Amino acid sequence: MEQLLNKFEDYLNSNLPSSKTFHPHFESALEEMLKAGGKRFRPMLLLSVVNSKNPLLVSNSLPIALGIEFLHTYSLVHDDLPAMDDANLRRGFQTLHKKYDEVTAILVGDALNTHSFNLLANAPLSNDIKIELIKTLSSDGGIDGMIIGQAIDCHFENHRLKLDELEFLHIHKTAKLIAASLKMGAIIAQYDLTLQDKLYNFGIDIGLLFQIQDDIIDETQSEQEAGKTTQNDNEKNSFVNLLGLDGAIESADKLANKCEEQLRSLDDKLKDSLEELLLKYLHRHK
Ligand code: IPE
Ligand code: IPE
Ligand code: MG
Ligand code: MG
Ligand code: MG
Repeated sequence: MEQLLNKFEDYLNSNLPSSKTFHPHFESALEEMLKAGGKRFRPMLLLSVVNSKNPLLVSNSLPIALGIEFLHTYSLVHDDLPAMDDANLRRGFQTLHKKYDEVTAILVGDALNTHSFNLLANAPLSNDIKIELIKTLSSDGGIDGMIIGQAIDCHFENHRLKLDELEFLHIHKTAKLIAASLKMGAIIAQYDLTLQDKLYNFGIDIGLLFQIQDDIIDETQSEQEAGKTTQNDNEKNSFVNLLGLDGAIESADKLANKCEEQLRSLDDKLKDSLEELLLKYLHRHK
């Protein structure tokens, strides 16, 4: 896992959009949030699936992994804006609208979003595969996924949703991009459609768990520990607000156990490739 992560970080550092103009800070703002780090959970899911089938395909998959990280990073930059969650800290650094201004944060987000598809389109993979990847990322990261989730998240602030509506919200804003990361790995590796679907559905469970854990982190961690603004979900529909902290932890426990079972049901190569990464995250709420 460490090796895959190093490959990804090296690729990221040498493939930042480089054109410098006479804008005093736009290009550095664009690079900062990417370089600031983060767990790189989504690209690692994709690369682990590819690696399970054919390690030689990993290097040609790096632009796709980076594309997912660009899209995810854009979602964070916009999520922190005053019109959305109004947060001051992200990945251990001041958010871009605080350090620079809102215009910069909005346009950095836009640029990361657009450029993610540029990375996909230019990857050294077959056109057929790239079209499938673009379909998946644009749908799960877009109106059928992350965007509608974020829209519901913000629209229903201070309005309590039912539990099934909250699950819908979390599945869309977070789980679908995580599910897409696994599925995109399976598309590149040319795993059959049944396995692509199985990994996608597994990713929905992992992603729902990931967001429940994120809700718990908002309640229990300081901003130094989390590297981002916390205690920021008061007006939100979160698992902690709906079920209480103990109820949220109980839901996370149940889902973590279900995910471990699903992990064990994968064939040996896939299981071995995903195990280290997933076991690190499935119980992070404890
Ligand atoms: C934070 O995502 C936003 C959610 C969807 C929960 P991550 O927790 O993966 O953030 P980074 O990439 O590690 O900063
Ligand atoms: C954000 O959910 C999900 C995204 C699509 C970015 P949150 O608003 O809970 O994420 P954090 O806690 O700010 O990272
Ligand atoms: Mg949010
Ligand atoms: Mg937020
Ligand atoms: Mg959160």
